[in-house]
This record gives sequence, C-alpha cells and structure tokens, in this order.
Amino acid sequence: MKKSHLTIAVLGCFLLFSGTFWIFYFRPAQGTPLSHLLTNNNDKGLTWQDQDVSQSGGVIMNHMGNATAKAELGRSTWKLFHTMMSRYPEQPSDDERVALAQFIHLLSRLYPCGECAEHFQTLLQKFPPQTSSRIAASQWACAIHNKVNERLGKPIFDCSDIEAKYPCGCELE
Ligand SMILES: Cc1cc2nc3c(=O)[nH]c(=O)nc-3n(C[C@H](O)[C@H](O)[C@H](O)COP(=O)(O)OP(=O)(O)OC[C@H]3O[C@@H](n4cnc5c(N)ncnc54)[C@H](O)[C@@H]3O)c2cc1C
Ligand SMILES: *[C@@H]1O[C@H](CO)[C@@H](O)[C@H](O)[C@H]1NC(C)=O
Repeated sequence: MKKSHLTIAVLGCFLLFSGTFWIFYFRPAQGTPLSHLLTNNNDKGLTWQDQDVSQSGGVIMNHMGNATAKAELGRSTWKLFHTMMSRYPEQPSDDERVALAQFIHLLSRLYPCGECAEHFQTLLQKFPPQTSSRIAASQWACAIHNKVNERLGKPIFDCSDIEAKYPCGCELE
C-alpha cells in the first residue's frame, strides 16, 4: 500500500468515528430553567418532528401588513391555544399526543400572519411541544407565549396563574 493511501485511510477512519462525537458536541445547549421546562424529558421520544416526516414544511402565508388585524388575530389564537391546553386530557393516549403535536406544527405552517409563523417555527424547533399531560401542555404553551411576549416587549405572564386564567370547566360536563 502506498504511503499516501495509508494516510487517507487513517484520516477517513478518524473522521468517521469522530463524527459520532461531533454530533453530541454541536447539540443545542440546554440547562437554563426555562429551556428545561420547555424541553421536558418526557417528550424526548415523541416530538412532532419524529411523528410524521410528511408534516415537515415551511410557512404558507405571506406577511400581514395590517398591525390591528395582526394583534386581533394573535389575541384570538392565544385564546384558542390556551383554552385547548386547559381541556386537553390529563392522561392523553399516544394518538391524542400525536394529534396535539401535529396541530401545533400545522398551526406553525398555516398561521395567517406569515412573519409570525416564521418566528413561531423557530421557537418550536428550540422548544418542541410537550404533550404528555394537561399540565405539561399548558405550561409549555404558557412558556412559548412568553417567548413571543419577550420578543415583542410585552409583559411576561406568571404561568402559575394559568389554570385560573383559562379554567378547564370540566366539572360542568
Ligand atoms: C403563534 C403566534 C405568533 C405571533 N407572532 C407575532 C409576531 O411575530 N409579531 C407580532 O407583531 N405579533 C405576533 N403575534 C401576536 C401577538 O402575540 C399578540 O397576540 C398581539 O400583539 C396582541 O397582544 P396582546 O397584548 O393583546 O396580548 P396577547 O399576547 O395576544 O395575549 C392575550 C392575553 O393572554 C394573556 N397572556 C399573556 N401572556 C400569556 C401567557 N404566556 N400564557 C397565557 N396567557 C397569556 C394575557 O391576559 C393577554 O392579555 C403572534 C401570535 C401568535 C399566536
Ligand atoms: C386593518 O384591520 C382592521 C381589523 O381587521 C380593519 O378594521 C381595518 O380596516 C384594516 N385597515 C386597513 C387599512 O385595511
């Protein structure tokens, strides 16, 4: 074997095996309390990215110029979003978990304010939806709304008040 071939072979082996190491090295950093809350280990095996590859895709709508319409749409959507979480099952089945994760992912594609949807998709990549229980889902939704509040310079909502603000109303059924 030529010396140059040997060098290439050794270098190839090194890159191949060190690849495994680099994947872990470049993983997104985790560790702050908020990001821990947003990326609960319960959901490690079940994220919307994993559930259905055909669901992946970009934002569909254009920018929304009218600021009044944008704010009205936001308020209505957040109302739907948090009310949905407040009534989501306490112990969801796998099918129900997939339904919620896919709904959120599709909302991030179809949200009628395109520039909002772009930001939302970036947030979802960092903080995948938590679907393991009602509490997990409502706390995740509150935290992600706060991420949007933060970027827009709005007050941060106290997530320990979430059940009072969006009551389940389940006792009336
Ligand atoms: C997915 C998404 C992305 C958006 N992206 C943008 C964007 O990029 N640019 C833009 O201009 N607008 C965006 N919006 C709209 C924006 O978030 C607001 O809805 C809008 O500016 C109106 O704000 P608001 O002050 O009335 O309160 P909102 O943020 O609409 O909240 C409505 C009410 O919910 C309660 N609330 C506040 N924070 C929380 C929380 N963390 N958890 C639970 N309840 C809470 C408060 O009582 C508040 O009055 C987005 C909306 C959504 C749903
Ligand atoms: C902006 O949206 C609001 C609310 O939907 C609407 O009343 C208003 O007429 C719109 N303005 C323009 C310039 O289209």
